Amino acid sequence: MADRPKRQIRGNTERVGHVPAPQLPRSTLLVAPPWHDYELIDSGNGSKLERFGPYTLVRPETQAIWEPALSEKEWNTADGVFQKGKSDEGAGSWQLRRSFPERWQMEHEGLQFWARLTPFRHTGVFPEHSAHWEWIRQQLLRYEQANVLVLFGYTGLYTLLAAQVGAKVCHVDASKPAIRWAQENQEVARLQDKPVRWIIEDVSKFLDRERRRGSRYEMIIMDPPVFGRGPKGEIWRLTEGLPALLARCAALLSDRPAGMLVNAYATSISPITLFNLQHAVTRQWHGEVEVGELVLVDTALARPLPAALYARWTAGA
Ligand SMILES: C[S@@+](CC[C@H](N)C(=O)[O-])C[C@H]1O[C@@H](n2cnc3c(N)ncnc32)[C@H](O)[C@@H]1O
Repeated sequence: MADRPKRQIRGNTERVGHVPAPQLPRSTLLVAPPWHDYELIDSGNGSKLERFGPYTLVRPETQAIWEPALSEKEWNTADGVFQKGKSDEGAGSWQLRRSFPERWQMEHEGLQFWARLTPFRHTGVFPEHSAHWEWIRQQLLRYEQANVLVLFGYTGLYTLLAAQVGAKVCHVDASKPAIRWAQENQEVARLQDKPVRWIIEDVSKFLDRERRRGSRYEMIIMDPPVFGRGPKGEIWRLTEGLPALLARCAALLSDRPAGMLVNAYATSISPITLFNLQHAVTRQWHGEVEVGELVLVDTALARPLPAALYARWTAGA
């Protein structure tokens, strides 16, 4: 075999100084505004102490590696404490110090919904999401009736918020119980007459079908878990699936899009990674991608607790 000419990898010293300015996103810490029915009371020692309506709960929090502000005695007055199971993210159990109803009502700015204690530590509401709710309202109020797609929709709070401001919403989730809970929320919020489609399906399969049908949306909101399964056992892994998922979503945006919102709870990726993925699929439109963290602030010390990453594209007018 003839020797191939050796390719030499050189640095680009000639080009240094002519490299275009980096495309950096606007980076913002979004703080969830104070809210009557939810309070982060304190955090520390790997846990957070919160109030959901009248009930105080202690849940694990890997970020909170500092000392709590309140005493052990004060933490011990919590009504319920979540005990992790064998794996960090798997099912665990609640140790209760008072009796809890099967579900209880909560409210945020006129939107009623149900909270519950689940075996996966969640309560049906991610309080940090409230940092996006005003943005969603403001974007959707510009339309007479926007089409909104909510992926990994869980108990439906984004969906119902969008429906409340007049949008037509399609809500997709793999879990039948989660959709049932979301429908109970629709009822308690008195939004049964609003146009909401509830879809139990794997998000990737659903997006492919929507593309074939030619559906279009003004806003797409998603809250993907790090790992999940579709109804037929389809595997979802955030770091593998997100680039293709965002490309599929961008193909469904209408000619007059409002925006796209992605939350992520994966500690292994950076907000800049979210920016690169979202910018790649939205740069053909005017607009801006903003990235950062969602933050909860406690009432004991006003100390911030990082709660999630986000990337949010707002289309230009
Ligand atoms: C609980 S939520 C949001 C994740 C949350 N913010 C967290 O802590 O990671 C995740 C939702 O995604 C849904 N889900 C997971 N994999 C899915 C898939 N492949 N297709 C559709 N929904 C899926 C689950 O049923 C669940 O309701």
